Amino acid sequence: MARATTSFTCNECGAVHSKWSGQCDACGAWNSIVEEKPLSAAPASKGALGAQRGRAITLTDLSTREAPLPRTQSGLGELDRVLGGGLVPASAILVGGDPGIGKSTLLLQAAGHFASRGLKTFYISGEEAAAQVRMRAERLGLSQAPVQLASETVLRDILTTLDAERPDLVIVDSIQTMWSDSVDSAPGSVSQVRAAAHELTAFAKRRGSAVILVGHVTKEGQIAGPRVVEHMVDTVLYFEGERGHQFRILRAVKNRFGPADEIGVFEMTGSGLSEVANPSALFLSDRGTPAPGSAVFAGIEGTRPVLVEFQALVAPSPHSQPRRSVVGWDGGRLAMILAVLESRCGIPFAGLDVYLNVAGGLKIGEPAADLAVAAALLSAREDTALPAECVVFGEISLSGALRPVTQTENRLKEAAKLGFSSAIAPAGGKPGGESGLKVTRMTDLTTFVGEIFGAG
Ligand code: TYD
Ligand code: MG
Repeated sequence: MARATTSFTCNECGAVHSKWSGQCDACGAWNSIVEEKPLSAAPASKGALGAQRGRAITLTDLSTREAPLPRTQSGLGELDRVLGGGLVPASAILVGGDPGIGKSTLLLQAAGHFASRGLKTFYISGEEAAAQVRMRAERLGLSQAPVQLASETVLRDILTTLDAERPDLVIVDSIQTMWSDSVDSAPGSVSQVRAAAHELTAFAKRRGSAVILVGHVTKEGQIAGPRVVEHMVDTVLYFEGERGHQFRILRAVKNRFGPADEIGVFEMTGSGLSEVANPSALFLSDRGTPAPGSAVFAGIEGTRPVLVEFQALVAPSPHSQPRRSVVGWDGGRLAMILAVLESRCGIPFAGLDVYLNVAGGLKIGEPAADLAVAAALLSAREDTALPAECVVFGEISLSGALRPVTQTENRLKEAAKLGFSSAIAPAGGKPGGESGLKVTRMTDLTTFVGEIFGAG
């Protein structure tokens, strides 16, 4: 059988097809499939790899000791932590996020900081003119930082320059604007993004420079998302936040040089992003006397405990199909907790609109938040505030049992540090020891309902 030399890729979702068609059957988009040539020719195959010999590769064992990675810290503590303790040479990092969220601002600040620490830093902007970047730098108070600036989109020219200059750090803003002349499609298409990311990552490995790529994600999938790049790079960071809030979260989704799921918290100010070293205080900042529908969750984000407030509103619904609206948490998980409350505790939510919100614009993914969600929902429904100065955490199983969660001690310590005096936690798991909090341990949701809200 003849070996396929070209493939057909959907520009919208990146699905690969064996032949062209008008509609992508993976995502349903029309006219999005383009022909793609392979990056390099396949080996001239007669049988297997043919008669041509490769060179012998060196094998080592696992016990060989490696020197610790030489990391450079930027001095922006939140960024350094998300990177796993600093920037590693020869690493490729992707920073993704919605347009306008603050990626360019963050990376220009990072560039300024790394450059002041002695790294030879290049900032290549494919989106803004050099003058625009300079204006922003001035606003950020970085105009004196020794960053080399260029406004360019032609990948070949960029790589030639970088090869000659040998920088320590290159920031490319953004990968969607880069254009490689070896690929026959428009900038921003999947093939261009993939080719550019491949070339730049290869450059990082070859020359030992750290390369940071900026990638836009659009909900509509208009431009090829950086998803196709994720597996090529060492580290994937997402910069997220609600547009209306000033808080921005930098989250490590993948990190070959540090823990994933680590977050860094920033605040967008008139003069750029400033670090938020104590996010719990910030997320709880506007708490007054406890109101019905509010529950404080002692969570863990990466290696750090973070306290956040869940807010719920439950009201009779004028519609036949009551609304379920969630911000900052998973809608499917909310439906599950409502179902458990209904069938295990006999508390119906039928005919009631339910709104759930995480204060401050943080997105919570931990199942340990289940109990805090249930507490907020019940508190809103019964119109009764939870005990003051109390944090809640625990995973709820479908049977209505409370399951122990990890890092109980750290959660309790953080709560004690922020002035909380009691906690409700699942039974079992490690004892919370010397935090000083009064901890009430419970085995199931029915007990919780009985103890906090009187007989369910
Ligand atoms: P930007 O970094 O351009 O976003 P991205 O590169 O992700 O598209 O930032 C865009 C927003 O940030 C813009 O709406 C203005 C705001 N901003 C501030 O509030 N303060 C500042 O100091 C700067 C530079 C930007
Ligand atoms: Mg930008």
